[in-house]
Amino acid sequence: MSALPGTLPGKRILLGIGAGIAAYKSAHLARLLKQAGFEVRVVMTEGAQAFIAPLTLQALTGEAVRTSLLDPEAEAGMGHIELARWADRILIAPATADLMARLAHGHADDLLTTLCLASHAEKFMAPAMNQAMWSHPATARNAHRLAEDGWQLLGPDSGDQACGDVGPGRMLEPEDIMAGLSGAVERPAEGLKVVITAGPTREALDPVRYLSNHSSGKMGYALATAAAALGAEVHLISGPVALATPHGVTRHDVESADDMLAAAERLAYDCDLFIGCAAVADYRAEAPAEHKLKKRDDEDAMTLRLVKNPDIIARIAARDDRPFVIGFAAETRDLERYGRDKLTRKQLDMVVANDVSQAGLGFGADDNAAVLLWKDGNAIDRDAQPPQPKSRLAEAVLKRALSRLNTTHHA
Ligand code: PMT
Repeated sequence: MSALPGTLPGKRILLGIGAGIAAYKSAHLARLLKQAGFEVRVVMTEGAQAFIAPLTLQALTGEAVRTSLLDPEAEAGMGHIELARWADRILIAPATADLMARLAHGHADDLLTTLCLASHAEKFMAPAMNQAMWSHPATARNAHRLAEDGWQLLGPDSGDQACGDVGPGRMLEPEDIMAGLSGAVERPAEGLKVVITAGPTREALDPVRYLSNHSSGKMGYALATAAAALGAEVHLISGPVALATPHGVTRHDVESADDMLAAAERLAYDCDLFIGCAAVADYRAEAPAEHKLKKRDDEDAMTLRLVKNPDIIARIAARDDRPFVIGFAAETRDLERYGRDKLTRKQLDMVVANDVSQAGLGFGADDNAAVLLWKDGNAIDRDAQPPQPKSRLAEAVLKRALSRLNTTHHA
């Protein structure tokens, strides 16, 4: 299928609108897409038309809006397969829980799902639903499956919802959707190799017990997802976590800090950006027992001798061929002071200092807040990031790092 007259190659976007209250924001999104130079074709589900009239989208895009698979008049113009081939990108906003479920299972029971199945276009969706629906294991499974199938999920956001609830599930604002989309379209990290550590490490005490911590890997995986969406070659060195590998990311599973160091040193060769997001155990057992340690009736206490683990990020930062190095600082007090100390002591280029004492943020949570600290000549500059989904914070960290990379000798 050739491009229509006047369309820019790579800038043909099909905007799919699902049946959610956030559909009213899709009118503004269509306008922003047009302003950014996209040719926009809109497809609405039947339910979406209860929230916003097709005529509104038609007026904004200058194109007839498609709503039905079985519309002889529309098919006489551009058939649904032609439309599927025409699109360089498909963006669904809002993507409801039901639409996500149907797409995750390969349904083709209306025009939008059929187009998605028939198209090789790059695919994005901005989920929008009630917080309980978003947190339901079925939706989490569908979201993972969609990511594995190559969908890039933009959001959702967290906060007040139309139904009165508060929590994750709100559709990203159109401007934020555009930012996520433009990252992918412009691919500013194309050609860069990014290595990220994520999750906890496990330090064996004996064959059945270990020392570890509460890191879920969510922050590191969000960074890997965002870096891949920006076009980077991403290697994710992951401690044991229960997360699916993000699309387009090469994952290297490790257990202990020693394993993580070995993988990091191997992968840091030729690397442009190294991000240490893992919660690495600072100490390990000096001599893990070969067999399961037995409880002794004659002793009420047991002494474990621990020895220091290697500092992975400091080792990477000390290399002659060092990449741009970003460390995290997980603190429960004096956030900025400890963050600045780590920046200097570990010779890092940037520190993401997060307060892990706040409920709903940090370890295991979907949201995070942080102060980004980086060296600017002899001074240290800062950017405070408020509580937000980890996906959004990850984008902010990468954006800042990429602009620093372009202005330092690391570029
Ligand atoms: O995984 P989640 O549940 O999403 O939670 C995210 C997080 C809270 C774990 C993450 O945001 C975070 O703060 N990660 C770093 C946790 C940590 O170990 O911080 P630290 O202050 O102890 O270490 C400072 C830096 O040195 C970190 O970049 C760490 O990866 C690195 N380090 C630490 C010790 C060590 N032996 N080797 C290291 O490389």
